[in-house]
Amino acid sequence: MSRLLWTRRRFSRMAAAAALCPPLLAERRFAPASGPDVNGPNSLRAHGAAAGVLTGCAVVPELLDFDQGNASPDAEAYTRTVAEQAGILVAENAMKWSSLRPTASTYNFTPADKLFAFAAAYQQQVRGHNLCWHEQLPAWFSSVATKDNAASLLTQHIQTVAGRYAGRVHSWDVVNEAVYLQDSRPDGLRNSPWLQLIGPSYIELAFTAAAKADPHAKLTYNDYDIELDTPEQTAKRGQVLLLVRRLVARGIPIQAIGIQSHLQATGPKPGSGLLSLIREVAKLGLEVYITEMDVNTHQLEGGSDVQDAAVAEVYKSYLGMVLAEPNVKAFLTWGITDAHTWLNQIRQPWTIRPDGSRQRPLPFDDEYRPTPAFFAIRSAIDTARRPVSQPSSNAPQQPVSDPYAPFAVPGSPGTAPQPRPDGTPKPDA
Ligand code: G3I
Repeated sequence: MSRLLWTRRRFSRMAAAAALCPPLLAERRFAPASGPDVNGPNSLRAHGAAAGVLTGCAVVPELLDFDQGNASPDAEAYTRTVAEQAGILVAENAMKWSSLRPTASTYNFTPADKLFAFAAAYQQQVRGHNLCWHEQLPAWFSSVATKDNAASLLTQHIQTVAGRYAGRVHSWDVVNEAVYLQDSRPDGLRNSPWLQLIGPSYIELAFTAAAKADPHAKLTYNDYDIELDTPEQTAKRGQVLLLVRRLVARGIPIQAIGIQSHLQATGPKPGSGLLSLIREVAKLGLEVYITEMDVNTHQLEGGSDVQDAAVAEVYKSYLGMVLAEPNVKAFLTWGITDAHTWLNQIRQPWTIRPDGSRQRPLPFDDEYRPTPAFFAIRSAIDTARRPVSQPSSNAPQQPVSDPYAPFAVPGSPGTAPQPRPDGTPKPDA
C-alpha cells in the first residue's frame, strides 16, 4: 500500500476516530492547551483508535473535574488531558480492596462510580484493577480473614465489585502479581495472604468468580518484571506462562495477560524473551495488554533533556517491538502526567534521581506539555500497526528453540506433547 494512500486512508480513519470523541473541549469550558496541538485527531487516543490499539492511562478519579466549573487549574488540565488522550482508563488505586472496602461489611464505590461516569461521558473504555492482590489489603483484613472464610470473602468481593460494573468493563486484572520466585515455591507462586489462607486454588477461584460476575469482561492475569532478558525475569516469565498454561489446560476462564511494563531508562532492554511470551500466549488464544507503562530514570544522570531523550527512546523501541504483535490489543501508561506519578510520589531509593530532580516518566510533563515521549509513543503506534507482511524490523527474530519447553503443561495448547514415562511420544491431545 503506497505510503501516501496509507497516510490519506489513515488520516481519514483518525479524523473518523476523533469524530467519535464527543464535543469535548471547545464547547465545554476547558481553556485551550498551549504548545503543539496534540488534541482531537492528533491525540494518542485518535492515533490508537486508527491503529487498532486501545490507548489510555491510569487515573485518579478524585483529580477529575467532572462537575463543571470549580476546577483548580491542575484539575482542569488533568481532566482535559485524560479526556483527550485516553480511549481506555484504569483506576490507579480507587478499585483496590483498600479503597473499596473501608470495613469488612461496607463498600466505598464513590471514586470508582465517578470514573465510570466520566468514561461514559467521554466514551472511554475502562479496565478494572484489581480483584485479588497481596498489596493494598484493608487494615481490617488480617483480623477478619481466616482459612474458613477467606474463599467466601474473595468470591463475595468479586461478585459485588465485578457485578456492579458488569458489562461496562473492557478487562479485569483478576489476579495481580501472584508469581514471586523469591518465595522459592516450586510453582513459583507468591506466598501471599490469599495463598496462605486458601492455597494455590485461590487463583482459579478468583477467575471463576469473575467470569460469573461479569461474563463480558476479558479476564486478565497481570504482572511486572517479565519484560527483560535477565535470568531472573526470564525465570519469572516462564512461571507466568506455566501458570497461564495450567489455567487454560484446566478450562479456567482467562482471556488475557497484562504486562505492566514499568521499565528503566538505563540497564538491560526487553527483547526476544518477551516476544516469545507474547507469541506463546497467542497460541493459547489470549490477548496481551501493556497495562502500566512508565520509564523510571532514577539511575540516569543528567537534566530534563537527557531524561526526556532516554525516556522517549525506551517508549519508541519497546512499543515498536510489542505493538507489532497482533495479539497486543491495548497500551496504557501508569498515569498521564509527571505531575501525578507514583515515581514522584513514592520517595524510595529506586525512585530518587541522582540530582534529586523530579522524574519525567510519562507523555505529559508537570505543566501538561507533551514530552518527547508523547511523540515517540504516537509515532510508535502509527508505525507498529502499518500493514506489513513481517514483524517490524526491530523485532528480534523468533528464537529457534521454544524457550518455554521446560514450562510445558500437558494438555495445554501450544505445548509440545510430553513424552510418556516410557519415552514414546504422546500423540497430540
Ligand atoms: O489514600 C491514602 C491516604 O488516605 C493517605 O493519607 C496516604 C498517606 O499514606 O496514603 C494514601 O494511600 C496511598 C495510595 O497509593 C493512594 O495514593 C498508599 O499509601 C500508597 O501505597 C499507594 O501507592 C500505590 C501503590 O500501587 C500501592 O497500591 C501507587 O499510587 C500506585 O501507583 C501503585 O500501583 C501499582 C499497581 O497497582 C500494580 N503494579 C505496580 C504499580 C506501582 O507500584
